[in-house]
Amino acid sequence: MTTNEARKRAVFHPLEVSAVRRLTDNAIEVSFAVPEPLRDEYDYVAGQYVALRTEIDGQQVRRSYSICEAPTPGTIKVGIKRDLGGLFSNWANDTLAAGDTIEVMSPQGLFVSKHEFTGMNDADRVSGEAVARGESHFVAAAAGSGITPIIAIAKSLLEHPGTQVDLVYVNRAASEVMFLEDLADLKDRYPARLAIHHVLSREQRQAPIYSGRLDAEKLGQLLDRLIDVERVDEWFLCGPFDLVQLIRDELAGREVPADRIRYELFSTGQPGEGAQANRGRPVEVDPEGENFEIGFVLDGLSGEVKSPKDAHETVLNAALRVRADVPFACAGGVCGTCRAKVERGTVEMAENYALEADDVENGYVLTCQSRPTSDRVLVDFDK
Ligand SMILES: Cc1cc2nc3c(=O)[nH]c(=O)nc-3n(C[C@H](O)[C@H](O)[C@H](O)COP(=O)(O)OP(=O)(O)OC[C@H]3O[C@@H](n4cnc5c(N)ncnc54)[C@H](O)[C@@H]3O)c2cc1C
Ligand code: FES
Repeated sequence: MTTNEARKRAVFHPLEVSAVRRLTDNAIEVSFAVPEPLRDEYDYVAGQYVALRTEIDGQQVRRSYSICEAPTPGTIKVGIKRDLGGLFSNWANDTLAAGDTIEVMSPQGLFVSKHEFTGMNDADRVSGEAVARGESHFVAAAAGSGITPIIAIAKSLLEHPGTQVDLVYVNRAASEVMFLEDLADLKDRYPARLAIHHVLSREQRQAPIYSGRLDAEKLGQLLDRLIDVERVDEWFLCGPFDLVQLIRDELAGREVPADRIRYELFSTGQPGEGAQANRGRPVEVDPEGENFEIGFVLDGLSGEVKSPKDAHETVLNAALRVRADVPFACAGGVCGTCRAKVERGTVEMAENYALEADDVENGYVLTCQSRPTSDRVLVDFDK
């Protein structure tokens, strides 16, 4: 699947919550019913996410949640884990119930296998050498709520005969393991093709290799003993920044080609990132002052906005001042929803945990992280 095939226009629709299932004391699974006329818009590929938007205490809040089920027409399911002190995740865990309606963005995201895939409306289209050859090996590593896209990917991959999946899942304690029963059911269904390695960082398991913090030493042992690294066709990593970085470094040290590694971050771990995602700073523009001229194309319509040079605004925040439907979700450089192609001028991108190297070479940027470095800039959100 190419970047553009995975990318669809980001649009919000109100969807009804059809069920809320408690997964642990601190996590729920929320199912949304997708009405028939909207099914194409909510077609997705395992590994993608939706942004949810609602009003909490008079404030509009939007957050992203990965879809935790292999593509299923008519349903979108997400897993939401409480974040200590977090606004949306606690509100959802405390109050969200079947029958409620909130706004759900059409699925987005590029954390998808390069070996499979198809949306659910095109289930016969399977591409990719490894899957076509009928023997392929995938390794997924998740920590905490990072299991949500990983369980969807694992289920989807295992639907193809001949695929083998090793899943390393790190949690602090057994009581925090999300989808524990679903994972056990998946193992029962594919006993020979799925191996699940639960690592508990603050609880003792029988095998010492599965107990304690997953540091470089333990990771090295796990890879040496459990996984034939050279035979792995694709790696999927989802968890906190430090853990994902640790695994990427270890794989790079073992000369695993970077293009076999997909990863997704839920945040960069920077405090305040979530709060900033909701609203940019108020900016006053003096038309006669020193301004950048930022032009953009969205849904075929052109817009333009002046951004004072001393405001150091991102392209996204400037564009949002004149058009409220400019797409974004995390505002932290991790999800890729705000991606656009620079058609004219230059920008500087601060963080990028979402675009692959070839996207950047082809002129794509994350507008939530990009500030103009030339007087005039034109970006296209439609490309
Ligand atoms: C692509 C993507 C997919 C995701 N998928 C999932 C998923 O499947 N499941 C899941 O549970 N999560 C997922 N997330 C994370 C999710 O979007 C939210 O970030 C998470 O639920 C926290 O949101 P919140 O509103 O509860 O916390 P927020 O209110 O955004 O706060 C986040 C953290 O920052 C702290 N904080 C907030 N404001 C400040 C401040 N001013 N100063 C210092 N600290 C502050 C809070 O205490 C909290 O710890 C995903 C994120 C992305 C980008
Ligand atoms: S909005 Fe998520 S990367 Fe920009």
